[in-house]
Amino acid sequence: MQTFYIETFGCQMNAHDSEKVIGTLLSQGYTQVAKPDQADLVLYNTCSIRDKAEQKVFHRLDEFKRSGQGKVFGVLGCVAQQEGERIFERAPHVSLVAGSASYARLPEMLVQLESGNRRVTGLSLHNDQAFDTPFTKRDNPHRAYITIIEGCDKSCAYCVVPFTRGPERSRTSASVLNEARELARMGYIEIQLLGQNVNSYRDPSPAALDFARLLRAVGQVDGIQRVRFTTSHPRDFVKDIIDAIDENPALCNHVHLPVQSGSSNVLARMQRLYTRDEYMRRIEWMKNARRDISITTDIIVGFPGETETDFEQTLELLDQVEYDSLFSFKYSRRPNTAALDLEDQIGEQEKSRRLAILQEKQRAIQVRRNSDLIGKLEEAFVEGYNHATGQWIGRTTQNRTLNFVHPHFPAPREGASLAGTSWNVRVTRAGPNSLAGEVVV
Ligand code: 5AD
Ligand code: SF4
Repeated sequence: MQTFYIETFGCQMNAHDSEKVIGTLLSQGYTQVAKPDQADLVLYNTCSIRDKAEQKVFHRLDEFKRSGQGKVFGVLGCVAQQEGERIFERAPHVSLVAGSASYARLPEMLVQLESGNRRVTGLSLHNDQAFDTPFTKRDNPHRAYITIIEGCDKSCAYCVVPFTRGPERSRTSASVLNEARELARMGYIEIQLLGQNVNSYRDPSPAALDFARLLRAVGQVDGIQRVRFTTSHPRDFVKDIIDAIDENPALCNHVHLPVQSGSSNVLARMQRLYTRDEYMRRIEWMKNARRDISITTDIIVGFPGETETDFEQTLELLDQVEYDSLFSFKYSRRPNTAALDLEDQIGEQEKSRRLAILQEKQRAIQVRRNSDLIGKLEEAFVEGYNHATGQWIGRTTQNRTLNFVHPHFPAPREGASLAGTSWNVRVTRAGPNSLAGEVVV
């Protein structure tokens, strides 16, 4: 085997895992190709958070049921961990099934594949160490991910992650900070700290930093101009995190704090370990901060037993918090989870109805909040150029997309681009999901 192709589904943790898998394969002498047809080894790094995500990988594998002869197929990530060896039965042309807790064993698993083993697995979750590798093929030349904690020790009633990513393992602060310094030396300006629940980060070394202290330390790395983190859990979200953001402008003033529901009854049945009031206390910390902290969230509609009144409480929460953006989902029944067998599952149509109402409400809030920014100055970091619109694609510290024109630099020229630079942009237009503006020179 010489060449490999990889397709990634799911969250940023998965995207970053793929960067490490790719780095590992390259270090073993493989070459990455852009299309599965050209590859000897075809890998899917999968997501099983909702049923739809899980089905994607099986569609992909079905496409190659006949035409895949001569190729080796591997399923990585959350579906691999969840379905395990059942994948070999469902898709007999698959030869490798490995969950994220086993990636440290990838070189060894590759050797097994090369020697002709067609049933190679990495499915153990008994692993007390985070996957640390010097081989990471980063996708973006300016913004880099750093995993600080893997796995999840919570047991939200709807969620597969504790089963697919196993128990929590934090990296040492020294290893995180060394990686951040190395990235700064390589020219990266933005770092995104990753974990299923970054707030429960606990440095296993004697330094014993908690998340807020780690965040402060990363924010002080020379050359790193922006630091983001995802994702947070309200139960473990402490005020000190807000204090850290207030102290250092390199820490972006954006917090993604998934609420899931505005009803304390639903939250209790979801086993979220906080009430609506406790969640709102955290929102108050942010609203009272010195910096203008942008707040975003995740919401699930149609959790088993969610009444019309529960749902209305979620709608009312949107008005109260005024999120800058949210991800919303219809509840999806997942294997192994506590909610799987709950009575009173909500019908598909009713879930769709609630989702549409919620999204419409949030859209109006975003239109209003974004319009308030017209005329204001925002610092935009450039991520690329949109040839169709003739605008630079920028991002503000609050994580809004701010597309803009530059009077002296209307387009990339001779390979020179503004990507990785930052500009003061006057906002001139606002939509529900992005802003547009022009550079002030
Ligand atoms: N059904 C619907 N949405 C889910 N999420 C997690 N599990 C489920 C599920 N079973 C959502 C949550 C989480 C986000 C990443 O995905 O809102 O915060
Ligand atoms: Fe999907 Fe969750 Fe796994 Fe990320 S951790 S890939 S969102 S199931």
